[in-house]
This record gives sequence, C-alpha cells and structure tokens, in this order.
Amino acid sequence: DDFDGEGVWRYSDALPFEEGVTLPEGHTPLHRVPRLEAEVDVDALRIKHEGMNPTGSFKDRGMTVGVRVAQAVGVDRLACASTGNTSAALAAYGARADLETLVLLPAGKVAAGKVAQASLHGARILEVDGNFDSCLDIVQELAGRGEAYLLNSLNPFRLEGQKTIGLEIMEQFAADYDDYPDRIVLPVGNAGNTAALYKCFRELVAAGAIDESDVPKITGVQAEGSAPMVEAIEEGNDEVRRWDEVETIATAIRIGNPVNAPKALPGIRETGGTAVAVSDEEITDAQRSLAGEGVGVEPASAASVAGLRKLRAQGEIGSDERVVCLTTGHLLKDPDAAAEAGADPEPVPNDTDAILEHIDEGSSV
Ligand code: F0G
Repeated sequence: DDFDGEGVWRYSDALPFEEGVTLPEGHTPLHRVPRLEAEVDVDALRIKHEGMNPTGSFKDRGMTVGVRVAQAVGVDRLACASTGNTSAALAAYGARADLETLVLLPAGKVAAGKVAQASLHGARILEVDGNFDSCLDIVQELAGRGEAYLLNSLNPFRLEGQKTIGLEIMEQFAADYDDYPDRIVLPVGNAGNTAALYKCFRELVAAGAIDESDVPKITGVQAEGSAPMVEAIEEGNDEVRRWDEVETIATAIRIGNPVNAPKALPGIRETGGTAVAVSDEEITDAQRSLAGEGVGVEPASAASVAGLRKLRAQGEIGSDERVVCLTTGHLLKDPDAAAEAGADPEPVPNDTDAILEHIDEGSSV
C-alpha cells in the first residue's frame, strides 16, 4: 500500500525486498553548477544532491530498506547512534512503520534541525555525555543484548539501500553527458556510504552492466579535525587508527572510529581513488559557493566540493576529469552553520524612503 515504485524501490532487483516503508526516497537531482565547474576547471562537474530526500539526507535510502527488514524480522525497538541525520531518518521511518525508536546522540554536538526532526517524529532521544563513537559502542551493546535492532550503517541492509545512489548517478550522468563519470567525491564519516558505492559498482561489473574501466574513482573527504580514514590512506595502513579527540564544524562527520573502514578502504584503493582532509574554513567556503548556485547543503556535504578543490589544486585530479560531488544533507539541517556562513540580516526602520536610502548606502556600485 505504501509502495511507490519510484526512487530507491525502482531498483528492487538489487534490494532484498520488492517494496519497503517508503516516503518515498531517492530520485534526487544531479545539478549542473557551471560557475563552480569553470572555477575548479574540470571537464564536467555535477552535484548529486542527497539533501533532497524526504528527511533531508541520504540516510533515507538506507532506512527504507533497513526498517523493512526490521518489520520482517519482527523486532520491537529500533535504535541508532547518530551525529544527527541517521536519527532523523530512523525517527521518520520508525514512525511510518509504527515502531518504537531510540536514538543516542553526542550531547551538544548535533545540529538543531536534526534534533528537531528526531523529536517531532517521536523518537526517544538520549543525549550521551560522549562522542558519536561512544554512542555507537553503546548501541552495539544494546543490540548484542537483544534490547534493540541496530540501524546504523553496520547494518548491511542500510547499505543495500544506499547502493542506489551509485545506480542513480550512473544513469543520470550518462543521460546528461553520454558517458559515465570518472570520479565520485563524497564526505566520509563512518564510511558506510563509501562502502555502499563500492558494492554498487562491484555488482554492476559482476552483472556485466558496466566494464571494470567504467567504475568511478571513489574519493573520500574528511574534516582535518576528524580524519582517521585519510590518515590510513596516506600512510598505506590496512587498519584505521581510532581518533579519541575529534572536532569540526561538519558535525555530521565528527567521527573518530569509522566502523565501515574494512569495507570502504578497499573501495577507495581498488577504484584508484584517494582521500583528502579539508579545513573548516575550506568547508564553509565550499558551502557558500554551492549556495551561490542555488544548492543549499550542510557543512559535511560541502566537504566534498572542498575536497575536489584541494585535489584539483594539488594536481591529483586533472582538468580532463568528469566529476560528481555527493552532497549528503540539506542546508536546513544546520541552520546555525548556514546563518554563520551567510550574510547578516540588516535592521532597518519601518519606512520605505529610509529603506531605499539604506539600500543605496549598502550598494557597492
Ligand atoms: N554526510 C552527512 C550529512 C552525514 O550525516 C554523514 C553521516 C556522512 C556524510 C558520512 O556518511 O557515515 O556513511 O561515511 N552521518 C551519520 C549520522 C554518522 O549519524 O547521521 P558515512
């Protein structure tokens, strides 16, 4: 009855069920950004804006599948640890499925829009005096004791849904450009999405739908203050060292222990991709540039564009490349960061002439 057949569920052949608890999700735009494309100087740049999903982030693609599986298993309580977006998605899909939901958040480190969503959709919100990584440790223990069904990206069914990002990118890019992109640049936190993209492309090659040489280079971006994956890639390590202290304006990816690293590191390496860390200033600059072309994203999402800029400046990415940047969450997720990055409102008198005078004074020309 809820089945829509659009978006994520259009790809049900690649999913464990025919239909799910849907709002519906997926089918997000692949934007052209001509000014940014010219500035960065690549052959083609497109923005896959996952902030256009029902709860404003790519997490919906995983939740529609994960909550469907939870229904099939017959669990009583859903739970996740979250930097915010997973909790908003779980709360909404849990509400849709009429299941109890519990979310554990790092106290004081989750953007306002995300907490508001989890709250209104009726999740029980537990604010933990610790980082996201501690929250995830606890949720794993709760799940291990049979107290809750875990819906973090450690749950493989979440990643099944998120594979559809890769399928849509390949279809949409080919329709626009008549070929596949050379590279996909995405922000990395727990590295679930990175792992999901890699699985998507491996399955496409195995099915004979694309050639090995068509697989885009998966390129991860982290914030300098929480970059354990970048460290592992740069040092050539097979394991990722857990960072206990993490900090960044991009709170969505404020993660020191990327639990999907064993699945994500091979994805970056075997596709010929790389990983790069960017500063908070570079993230905010990229957020402004995207907003300047009408694409409103939260800081973690802008990290993808900041990473592209940096790798292009370093010559790691050539001017002949066709690149897709993934923007994972909507601007309104973090209204405080957006207001901080943007222009301040100007107080004016309640009078047309005074306002006109004020406008003329403020014009630079
Ligand atoms: N971008 C946004 C906006 C996110 O919310 C997240 C993860 C990521 C990127 C990173 O994705 O973990 O698959 O590498 N947010 C999770 C959450 C951790 O709890 O909402 P990843």
